Amino acid sequence: MDKASKTEKKCAECDNSKGKFNLCPTCTTRHIQGEIDEFIKDTQIQAHDTVQWADWKEFTNIKKIGEGGFGTVYSSRWSRSIEIVALKTIGKPNELMNNFLKEAKALFHCYNQENSCFRIKGFTQDPLSMQYYIITRYAENGDLRQYLRENTSLSWEDRLYILWDISLDLERIHKTGLIHRDIHAGNILHTGKVSHASYGTRVHDGVAYISDFGFSIAAYSDNNTEEIYGVMPYIAPEVLNGHGYSMESDIYSIGIIMWELASGKSPFTHISHDACLALKIYDGLRPEPTPNAPPFYLQLMQSCWHKDPFKRPKAKEIKETVMNQGGLFQKYQEKMQSIIEKQKAASKIDNNKIDPNAIYKSRLLPTITSLLSKRNSFK
Ligand SMILES: Nc1ncnc2c1ncn2[C@@H]1O[C@H](COP(=O)(O)OP(=O)(O)O)[C@@H](O)[C@H]1O
Ligand SMILES: [Mg+2]
Repeated sequence: MDKASKTEKKCAECDNSKGKFNLCPTCTTRHIQGEIDEFIKDTQIQAHDTVQWADWKEFTNIKKIGEGGFGTVYSSRWSRSIEIVALKTIGKPNELMNNFLKEAKALFHCYNQENSCFRIKGFTQDPLSMQYYIITRYAENGDLRQYLRENTSLSWEDRLYILWDISLDLERIHKTGLIHRDIHAGNILHTGKVSHASYGTRVHDGVAYISDFGFSIAAYSDNNTEEIYGVMPYIAPEVLNGHGYSMESDIYSIGIIMWELASGKSPFTHISHDACLALKIYDGLRPEPTPNAPPFYLQLMQSCWHKDPFKRPKAKEIKETVMNQGGLFQKYQEKMQSIIEKQKAASKIDNNKIDPNAIYKSRLLPTITSLLSKRNSFK
């Protein structure tokens, strides 16, 4: 072994041996802890309430509740809270943890500063596994995909409130200068324990909110167009074609969620989510609009998934359109009944037909460019 590779295995700060990924566990832990302490201190100056550091011993009854493309999420009792909380993994010191506080910071800017009940509550670390976690609200109804699957009889009012909640959050996200980049039904959470109120009176139970800011970035930062992460049916055609994510591509995802809210189904379940589908989406393929949806809804949904990003509405416009239709919610109830009946029948058939390559977890996606270069190499 030469001298250079020997020194590479030793930490420059403490001279101890480095571990996996050529990182020193002791020094990385110290750096991460320093970053967390700094972040917690900043939040105490800025926010209405504070983000806290919690000892691992304060958590009991830890149960796995979900797994996305990047992290694992647990529900847990927390001695400082009467409500159950969620713990989401954000990495260990012996892993590459570039920007590991990014998700926490995005949550803080979008929710804590707005005094929202979906704020980040704190951090903890399991001393045995060294795994760090962020502590957030536990959404007992799970994500929107689960919620729609388990609640086939939702009224139009319920569905429109969900859309209103999501557009309100997206407006906040975009106002802080962030692009979410990974909006899909698995990243929208639903809780029945929060209600909508007007002048102090409860008007509607249950709130949906956008979660999983792990992939979000500042709108002005370098928008790497070569690698596309996400769930294919929700990704805008221009992104699939390598033009990068934008606030408009987040709106495209909302268009697909609107279809899902109206139909109760996941988009493109019967097709493989491969580069051919990416090309078809680029060429204009969209899920079949639900015939009985209110005309204003169909029009809004189609403008959100318009091929031209500049023809898509802003989050604020979606929110206002839904709000202006408020008095009309009742009118759509009857139409919803027939959709509900069809949905119940469809969900039974659908499960048998799901394509094994229809993947609803975020992952690195095949691109149109890769498909075209493969085709060219066969010529
Ligand atoms: N706070 C929460 N309450 C309830 N379920 C959650 C919560 N956070 C995440 N989940 C579940 O775990 C899944 C994965 O979490 P997510 O934050 O999206 O991780 P990833 O970054 O890996 O996609 C979600 O799709 C959802 O089903
Ligand atoms: Mg996710």
